[in-house]
Amino acid sequence: MEKTFVIVKPDGVQRGLIGEIIARLERRGLKMSAAKFMQVSQELAETHYGIHKGKPFYEGLIKYITSAPVMAMVWEGPNAVAAVRQTMGATRPTEAAPGSVRHDFGLEVGRNITHASDSPENGELEIKLWFKPEELVEWGRANDEWIFE
Ligand code: RTP
Ligand code: MG
Repeated sequence: MEKTFVIVKPDGVQRGLIGEIIARLERRGLKMSAAKFMQVSQELAETHYGIHKGKPFYEGLIKYITSAPVMAMVWEGPNAVAAVRQTMGATRPTEAAPGSVRHDFGLEVGRNITHASDSPENGELEIKLWFKPEELVEWGRANDEWIFE
């Protein structure tokens, strides 16, 4: 089943939103595969956001993601990438759909609370970058058949 990589960014952690975000993903029916609370190193931040190197917001983005601990997670489900992006909302909170995390809790693009992989391919790459294979848990959830057709 498709997996996607999610971060509760430093502002989300500081604002006490880890539980809220996990609750929304769980309630939607997505299944957690891995999670760790961690400080992001400069090197990891630069690799993860390598695609944005050279853009005007790059330096601020690296400073933001390394400024305080984050909650890094892997979530699984049918169309997990699209489902989680929808739950998080558009990159700019003022363009995010009402009911999405970024709409409900955010105002500024540079404090937009979460990261979520933007394609299944990038999801796989990001999971490999952030987690060791043994940190991923394959498990049967009691109500899987009532959520996954
Ligand atoms: P993310 O990667 O964090 O899930 O966000 P995203 O796909 O919705 O947006 P992306 O284009 O990948 O941008 C990554 C993060 O960079 C910051 N950003 N700032 N000031 C700006 O114009 C700007 N644009 C992007 C945001 O924190 C965004 O989430
Ligand atoms: Mg992105």
